[in-house]
Amino acid sequence: MSLHYICPLCSTPLVNSHNTLRCANNHSFDFAKEGYVNLLPVQQKNSKQPGDSLAMVQARRAFLERGFYAFLQTELGNIVGKLNVDNIIDLGCGEGFYTQALASNTHAQVYGVDISKSAVKYAAKRYPHCHFSVASISQAPFNSQFADVLVSVFAPLFSHELARLAKPGATLIVASPGPWHLKELKSYIYATVNAHTPVTAPAEFVQSSQTLLTKQLTLNFDDVKNLIMMTPFAWKFRPEHWAALEAQGEHDVTLSFYVTQYTKTAVA
Ligand SMILES: C[S@@+](CC[C@H](N)C(=O)[O-])C[C@H]1O[C@@H](n2cnc3c(N)ncnc32)[C@H](O)[C@@H]1O
Ligand SMILES: [Zn+2]
Repeated sequence: MSLHYICPLCSTPLVNSHNTLRCANNHSFDFAKEGYVNLLPVQQKNSKQPGDSLAMVQARRAFLERGFYAFLQTELGNIVGKLNVDNIIDLGCGEGFYTQALASNTHAQVYGVDISKSAVKYAAKRYPHCHFSVASISQAPFNSQFADVLVSVFAPLFSHELARLAKPGATLIVASPGPWHLKELKSYIYATVNAHTPVTAPAEFVQSSQTLLTKQLTLNFDDVKNLIMMTPFAWKFRPEHWAALEAQGEHDVTLSFYVTQYTKTAVA
């Protein structure tokens, strides 16, 4: 099955030969032994190790493996299972927990893209039936209007790039925090916990549906620790917050997710 990447340096198609992707201008990118390809040129790197760190990746993997977010994974798999499409891109795929569920529910070619090499390494090793690349989703290595389905699970949304990548009529699926997602944990660090609002439709997309998934859990300290470590507010937890969390032992936690579907409008 041929891959549909374009060169991150000159935007011409990349052709696979002997485990190397090469463009007409002779820029070449080798597949790593884990099966992913690094399409992030140094000039697009804003730090030595962009994206989620190894510690965040490991915490997320440990937490997700416990099955607490399986209901979201199932929902996303069911959505793509009803679409008859050729290709899907999971933008900001992390270590592929949702990417592999998308691939298991469809015959489409499924691409996972993330700027974190640590995350992509894990993903590629574990899920060889998906195509993983290290790349920026602000300049994703695919032709314009390539994607039938774009998926974003708690990842940054670059609206110009979503509009560029999507075919007219393509589906964009966004999972984002629901109103009171993790409110109990946030109350340790914020005097007032504000409700999350749904993501507004990116330019050139119209909303077609929205579901709110909510679940209450009781988690032990190790699970809570991993859950916090995989969130953007982990750095706000100081030693006294960790001590208080540990002292309490078990925690009731609200999980809440918006799953919103959008349709790409025809080009104006
Ligand atoms: C909260 S994590 C979500 C990961 C995965 N979707 C999941 O839910 O398990 C956000 C991901 O976006 C990635 N990310 C952030 N900025 C990015 C960019 N400019 N290009 C590609 N990936 C990016 C991070 O490395 C991280 O893996
Ligand atoms: Zn090139």
